[in-house]
Amino acid sequence: MSITGAANGDAEVSGLPPPGGHPTAGAPPTVERVPPLRTVRATAYVTPLREGGSLPALMEADDDGIYVTKFRGAGQGTASLVAEVIVAGVAARLGVRVPELVVVDLDEAIAPREADEEVQDLLRASTGTNLGMDYLPGSTGYDGRGSWTPDVDDAVRVLWLDAFTGNVDRTWRNPNLLVWHRRLWAIDHGSALVFQHAWPDPATWAGRVYDLGRHVLLPVAERFGASAWAALDAELAARLDPATVREVVEAVPGEWLLAMNSARSREQAARDAGDPVPSAADWRERYVSQLLARLTGERPWRDGLLP
Ligand SMILES: Nc1ncnc2c1ncn2[C@@H]1O[C@H](COP(=O)(O)OP(=O)(O)OP(=O)(O)O)[C@@H](O)[C@H]1O
Ligand SMILES: [Mg+2]
Repeated sequence: MSITGAANGDAEVSGLPPPGGHPTAGAPPTVERVPPLRTVRATAYVTPLREGGSLPALMEADDDGIYVTKFRGAGQGTASLVAEVIVAGVAARLGVRVPELVVVDLDEAIAPREADEEVQDLLRASTGTNLGMDYLPGSTGYDGRGSWTPDVDDAVRVLWLDAFTGNVDRTWRNPNLLVWHRRLWAIDHGSALVFQHAWPDPATWAGRVYDLGRHVLLPVAERFGASAWAALDAELAARLDPATVREVVEAVPGEWLLAMNSARSREQAARDAGDPVPSAADWRERYVSQLLARLTGERPWRDGLLP
C-alpha cells in the first residue's frame, strides 16, 4: 500500500473491498476468485529489510505503493517466489489475511542510483520481474509472547494453511506473522511446498504429515473444539476445488516457473536426451497434481491437526 494509507491497504485480503467496513470487523474474508498479479514498475530502492535471509527490501513503485520486494537476483532461485504466489493464493481462498502480491518490474536504470555496491549488484542481477508484497505500515511481528491474542478462527485457518502447504516457517523462532489493525496477517511462504525442490510422486507428498510441534499458533488453536475443527476442515478443503487450485497456480509468472533450479536441470536433461523441454504449462500441471493429490482421499497430512 502507499505510505499515505491509500491504495489497497484498507482491504482485508488485498485488492478487494473490505467485507465489513473496518478491517477488524467480521469473520475472516475469503475471496471467490484469486486474481492475477498486478505488475508495477519500481521507481526507487527505499531501504533494505535487514532481517530477511533473502535480502528483501522496500521498493517504491509507479503506483505510489511501497512493496516489500524479494529479488530474483538474491541467489535463492525462483522456486521460493513461486511458493510465495501459490501459498498466498491458497491463503486468500481460505480466509487467511495476506498482503497483496504484485510483480515488481525492475529497470536497469535503478541500480546506478544506489551508493551501496552490494545493493547495486543485487538490483542489477534482478533486472526484470521480482516479487513485491504490499507493505503494511505500522504492523508489528507476532511471536506469541505478548499479551495480544489473535482471533481463534484466524489462527486455525493459518494452521490449516501451513499443514496443507507444508510450511515450516511459522515457528516460535521464525513466526512470519504480522499484526496489523489488530488482525493477524501471514507473510513469507517461500519455504512451503517443499516438493518443488525434488518433485516426488504426488502421492508421496500427499501423505507427508505436517509437524505441528513448534508452530507458534498451536496454543491458540488448542482452544478450538473438535466439532469446530471438523466443520472448518470440511469448509476449507471444499474451498480448494480443482478449478480454484488451477486459478491459484495460473497466477504464477511463467518465467519464474522456467527459472527454478529444478526446471533448469530438467531442461538441460531434456536437451541432452533430445526430449521436448517442459513448458511453463507443464510445470503448472505438476503443481496442480501435487496440490490436488493432497486434497483427495484420507488426507493423512492432517494427522495431529484435528483433535
Ligand atoms: N508486507 C509487509 N509489511 C510490513 N513488514 C513486512 C512485510 N513483509 C515482511 N515484512 C518485514 O520484513 C521481514 C522479512 O520479511 P520476510 O520474512 O518475508 O523475508 P525473508 O527474507 O524470507 O525472511 P527470513 O528468511 O528471515 O524468514 C519480516 O520479518 C517483517 O518484519
Ligand atoms: Mg521471514
